[in-house]
Amino acid sequence: NKRVKIKTILDESPIGSEVTLMGWVRTKRSNKNVSFIALNDGSIITNYQVVADPNVISEDILKNCATGACLKVTGKVVESMGAGQASELNATSIEILGKADPEKYPLQPKKHSLEFLREIAHLRIRTNTFGAVFRVRHALAFAVHKYFNDKGFFYIHTPIITASDAEGAGETFKVTTLDLKNPPLKEDGAIDYTEDFFERETNLTVSGQLEGELAALALSEIYTFGPTFRAENSNTARHLAEFWMIEPEMAFYDAEDNQDLAEDFLKYVIQYALDHCAEDLKFLDQRVAEEEKGKPQDQRSELGLLDKLKFVVENDFERLTYTEAIDILRNSKPNKKKKFAYLIDEWGADLQSEHERYLVEKHFKKPVILTDYPKEIKSFYMRQNEDGKTVAAMDILFPGIGEIVGGSQREERLDVLTQRMQEMNIPQDEMWWYLDTRRFGTTPHAGFGLGFERMVLFVTGMSNIRDVIAFPRTPGNAEF
Ligand code: 4AD
Ligand code: MG
Repeated sequence: NKRVKIKTILDESPIGSEVTLMGWVRTKRSNKNVSFIALNDGSIITNYQVVADPNVISEDILKNCATGACLKVTGKVVESMGAGQASELNATSIEILGKADPEKYPLQPKKHSLEFLREIAHLRIRTNTFGAVFRVRHALAFAVHKYFNDKGFFYIHTPIITASDAEGAGETFKVTTLDLKNPPLKEDGAIDYTEDFFERETNLTVSGQLEGELAALALSEIYTFGPTFRAENSNTARHLAEFWMIEPEMAFYDAEDNQDLAEDFLKYVIQYALDHCAEDLKFLDQRVAEEEKGKPQDQRSELGLLDKLKFVVENDFERLTYTEAIDILRNSKPNKKKKFAYLIDEWGADLQSEHERYLVEKHFKKPVILTDYPKEIKSFYMRQNEDGKTVAAMDILFPGIGEIVGGSQREERLDVLTQRMQEMNIPQDEMWWYLDTRRFGTTPHAGFGLGFERMVLFVTGMSNIRDVIAFPRTPGNAEF
């Protein structure tokens, strides 16, 4: 008897046929005449009801069908008497594949807090909420590949170990095989990295962009989708030390082409989830609605999760420059109770998340593409605008998330680029390979990076980034 998935049974409802299910017990209710076992195998959020007659299934087996145990159940699919589900399984045999002591199993059949579940990340995947989150995450990842593949972009695998810090923010994790308690030293006392595995200093990548640019200047349109690492000590609900980033890079695109692509892409992956994750999103929508009920009236969001997703897909993003945004913030009257802790009145300051939230959630009430930031607060590779003060950057800000995408048109002019690198103390000799693309066949090009977990956060309505990646890496957290 071959195993059938619960999703298949629910899709096809093969009344009368004999099937074998394998899965984990969520709950069991028994009286003297019958036991009802809710089984879940992760293929779908719905539990499937197994009906076990104590005249058919031994008492010893039934005793072990406790929450958390893994079962193999064979039986006949019959029409369900109960409401809600079309069919159920009349068990003819049950095999206990793996017991779970109900006294010790950490997941009780009740509501657990997300904080508690974070401490048992190895088991939380077995809950409805996390099952839904990881199925949606999968669908979003698949949609990313589908979108770019359908457009003729090539998936490039950029290195995880590199010698460069693409963002120049100095937030890299070092990679070394040296014994740092007793390292080889140079004459001046500094560590001698020529003795290291790669014969130089290396780190985990913060972004695949620079290598992506090399590929775009050969294959025209490429994207990366891989893990990136940042040792920024931000213990927030939006930052991970290890996160996945999608970075398309396109030759012959200018800043506006880049914005068009980003908006189209974001809408596509959200629509894909709406089309392919209906049951999970419905569950998450209800979860968010319940969470909202617990908040004070003035902090509740106006739209439910599903309505919010549809709204984003159906409406144009607002596009404006940094300078226009500063004007709006200067003239804004933040509500009296919650004033901006820090009001922007100086052109050139970086926006704080409260400013981003004001623009997106209070002022425009829709996603915003902010462009043309002051060059001082952006990376060396962004293309300088005619004004000499700003660069062709774009950040996309989402309600409830803040920055979800960062990108720009790239500086393709060798002289302007090297000038900028000098001003920003970026070592040019180490970046000779990057500069070569500007020496040989340079052309306008552009790209952006989407923080994948921030997209998963937005689509699932979860509020902490630790809850949308299976094994989050944050300061102090790398146990499993
Ligand atoms: O804005 P960032 O730093 O841009 C880059 O890395 C560029 N090289 C991208 C490019 O143009 N190809 O990061 C891009 C996105 C952010 O908008 C955010 O969504 C996400 O990556 N991100 C993080 N996500 C989770 N945890 C962190 N610590 C993140 N840092 C950035
Ligand atoms: Mg950024």
